[in-house]
Amino acid sequence: MVTRREFLLLSAASGGALLVPVGPLVGLARGAFPTTPPTTPWDRPLTIPPQGSFTTVDGIRVYDITAKPGFAQLLPPPMPATPISGYDGIFPGPGIRAESGTPTVAVFHNEMTEPTSVHQHGQVVDGDSDGFPVDYIRTGESKTYIYPNRTTSVCSQMTARTMWYHDHSRDVTGRNVMNGLAGLYLLRDANDATDNVIDDQYDVPLVFQDRIINADGTLFYPGPVDAGNQGFQGDIVLVNGVIGPRFTVARTKYRFRLLNGSSGRQYQLALSNGQPFQLIATEGGFLLSDAIPLTSIFMGQAERYEIVVDFTDAPDQVVLQNQLVGSGQSRLRDLIRFDVTGPKVPSKSFPSPLRTSPEPVPVEAEATVRRSFKLHRKHGKFVINGVGFDPARVDVSPRAGDTEVWTLVNESGGWSHPVHLHLVNFLVLDRGGRPPGVYERSLKETVHLPRHGTARIIIRWPDVPPVPVLPAAVPLATGPQLPGTFRDRYVTHCHNLEHEDHDMMNQFQVLQRA
Ligand code: C2O
Ligand code: CU
Ligand code: CU
Repeated sequence: MVTRREFLLLSAASGGALLVPVGPLVGLARGAFPTTPPTTPWDRPLTIPPQGSFTTVDGIRVYDITAKPGFAQLLPPPMPATPISGYDGIFPGPGIRAESGTPTVAVFHNEMTEPTSVHQHGQVVDGDSDGFPVDYIRTGESKTYIYPNRTTSVCSQMTARTMWYHDHSRDVTGRNVMNGLAGLYLLRDANDATDNVIDDQYDVPLVFQDRIINADGTLFYPGPVDAGNQGFQGDIVLVNGVIGPRFTVARTKYRFRLLNGSSGRQYQLALSNGQPFQLIATEGGFLLSDAIPLTSIFMGQAERYEIVVDFTDAPDQVVLQNQLVGSGQSRLRDLIRFDVTGPKVPSKSFPSPLRTSPEPVPVEAEATVRRSFKLHRKHGKFVINGVGFDPARVDVSPRAGDTEVWTLVNESGGWSHPVHLHLVNFLVLDRGGRPPGVYERSLKETVHLPRHGTARIIIRWPDVPPVPVLPAAVPLATGPQLPGTFRDRYVTHCHNLEHEDHDMMNQFQVLQRA
């Protein structure tokens, strides 16, 4: 590890690496956006992002991941490859697999020309490992993030679930994620009956990211201002980095881990034959109920849902579609084609309920604090309660152990806001005074506020998790910030990344239990 760090410092001194040049263009009207070159639907198979490389030290996985420039063949060959910034130089980034109850260590190196901060989205973690927006790893430096993956109270459980990690640099998260700095973090649990119903070979992540790719292969990104008020919306959707892939499936049940990794785009996912599927998990892991049959599901930005699709009696071809897009835009509507083949493969059934809570879930009667957040636009910027992000200003100080009800208000009719809280899982109490959607009645950490939408969420604040004690043999490369700088500090923000960058983000600091 030390050798590696020395190498990085040397390579930085000798010129370092190039960041992909996709800075903001000035004064660009939405109509002036380029168009991704024509592509043939279903001409390439789905790919699954590879696992990141790790060593195991006394039972703890130590991942070693480098943020650096690279190339990805996003357009079909022989069209040019796309210059990206990616974890280990790939797009989507390498997967991290962790085991519930056992810490994971990830040493991130920065071989880009700009600083980066890495956020593990969904983890309940000490603030120093959360990826605070100004907790930078500078060019040529490394930082060790320690993820506890520990199961505690209901709002801070780290049970089996689908999470992701991505750049969280102040003001430029949208550009950096657009360039490829995002990957999956799957928390598994060898002892969880639900987590093991479906075999690994039928357990498939599907990450949806829309993009615009120029004819020369470069990514088009207009920046937070010129992207328009909806945030950036592309003209093609990549599924695991492939435009309109096909995927051969067996006649059995599949577990799909869905992530809306887009910045300005939402999805209403449905199968082209109208076949129902079962919802089994939200961002907060398996539902606290039985699986829920649905024929379509809404996904705001950063949300994850896990669904089970039974292909046993499906037609030979089924397409997963985004119903929010009309049939004239097939590259945005027809996301992935499943080619169903082979004999029927028997499958097991899920436990009922899928999961039980370690303690009663929070209810409104126990709430002692109420807060209200207006998400709005002011002087051309997106803000929360009138102010943008200031790392020197703490906006909210919840106390560990308290139960709070937050009212989130989108006063505008022009755009929506997917609101995300770090550190906690919460429950959605209601939307506009009505019960939340059936798909969002379990633990969440992102809630979508549609136009003129209001939602109330309930949070029982956890303690800031202690930093796990690691075996001495685990190599530690600390970042440039002193440990403790961000220990109890986190952010809550809109996950429309252009809104987040300009400037819809608050800081909260968790007070110790009374
Ligand atoms: Cu995925 Cu603070 O974000
Ligand atoms: Cu997050
Ligand atoms: Cu927003």
